[in-house]
Amino acid sequence: MSKFITFEGVDGAGKSTHLVWFADTLRQRGLDVVVTREPGGTQLGEQLRVILLSQPMCIGTEAMLMFAARLEHIEQVIKPALRAGKWVISDRFSDASFAYQGGGRGLDWDKLNQLEQWVHPDLQPDLTLFFDVPVEVARQRLAHNVSLDRFEQEQADFFERVRAGYHKRIRQNPQHYAVIDGAQPLEKVKQQLESIIASL
Ligand code: TYD
Repeated sequence: MSKFITFEGVDGAGKSTHLVWFADTLRQRGLDVVVTREPGGTQLGEQLRVILLSQPMCIGTEAMLMFAARLEHIEQVIKPALRAGKWVISDRFSDASFAYQGGGRGLDWDKLNQLEQWVHPDLQPDLTLFFDVPVEVARQRLAHNVSLDRFEQEQADFFERVRAGYHKRIRQNPQHYAVIDGAQPLEKVKQQLESIIASL
């Protein structure tokens, strides 16, 4: 049976590293896994990603472009793969819009609810893995990167609001999320991911 799983966290939480390992582990168990990401995942989505990560714009535009890329992603990639019985693992999905545009930028939560209702009224991830780390830890990890995008260049208070945005979303629907302490040593995180895979 197909499943839709999303990975979330503030920049520097380590989700992308764990996503690769998680997908490989599922493949070793014989599952057909599609790995994808947002913003992006389609030709148009990847073009929108380049703009979103580099071009300053007003908050509403940013939110609508995120959801525009998401609609393409859902129709072209996510739904067809799920219909074909595959597992879809996406590096970010709508929770990121609530956390970054809602929490980080302060866009009205209701507007985001409306966009979500418009773009995917009948689709939600089966499970979202949220990698939680204190903002200072995430910032230290990002400091090693040579080039930072428009979001990664934001200050610590922005990421505190992003993290709070994620926690708000989780409180609204806790059974939907696995919260993972991303500050733990890698081996500990892997153990936790293994038990999640076993439960799936
Ligand atoms: P990210 O997963 O961090 O890419 P990478 O690991 O390659 O740096 O995603 C890019 C950025 O996009 C990230 O800073 C969060 C932001 N973002 C939003 O602000 N809203 C959204 O809805 C999504 C999907 C991402």
